[in-house]
Amino acid sequence: MDAAAVALVPAAGRGERLGGRHPKALVQVHGVPLVVHAVRGLLNAGCVRRVVVAAPSSYVDTMRAALADGGAKALVVPGGADRTESVRLALAAALGESPDISIVLVHDAARAFTPPELVCAVTAAVAAGAPAVVPVLPVADTVKRVDANEIVTATVDRADLRAVQTPQGFALDVLRRAYEADGDTTGSHTDDAGLVERIGVPVSTVPGHPAALKITTPFDLAVAEAVFGR
Ligand code: C5P
Repeated sequence: MDAAAVALVPAAGRGERLGGRHPKALVQVHGVPLVVHAVRGLLNAGCVRRVVVAAPSSYVDTMRAALADGGAKALVVPGGADRTESVRLALAAALGESPDISIVLVHDAARAFTPPELVCAVTAAVAAGAPAVVPVLPVADTVKRVDANEIVTATVDRADLRAVQTPQGFALDVLRRAYEADGDTTGSHTDDAGLVERIGVPVSTVPGHPAALKITTPFDLAVAEAVFGR
């Protein structure tokens, strides 16, 4: 098995939660778009040989230009109607380019400052034989279940809960089978490992990292500006 992975970055969403008019992947930290930080991080990790980015169809040229400006080499393809479709299209483009792929990472552009060690830990775990791998962190907050009126109905034991980050890593055939089994009809998924669980394949974990935080809100953006260097 080739120990270097191909990474897919579905970045074709609108990113309303960050409040901008442009896709979230183009929101900047230190003047550089998140997608550029994310692709640089993947390529600099040393265990990723190619990155395929799915962009909103009206932003393909903009994203290509941003990545080229930032020295982040990636294949940019138009994304689909939802995240699931964008992953499918990015995977098809990756396979069209290099049919010999054996390890696929799916990474979120919003986790733009994921440490290289984490990218390679996920890749190495797949290379070592795990069919699917996700980075996880323990849940620090107490977790409660609420009803429709936001009244607490239960306190959930957090001991066996984990917050899941990306990149998520897969043996190619496992990701393909998971997406094939999903068909085209069940809507979008936020988590590729969830599709793998559904086909009965075990998903392993590696320790995640706080720096792999998902930049979702203006607060997260402020944190990223403050914490991550130029
Ligand atoms: O919008 P949402 O939070 O569900 O998006 C989750 C991720 O999927 C984001 O990284 C977004 O860019 C991506 N996405 C995509 N194609 C879409 C919709 C979302 O690649 N059509």
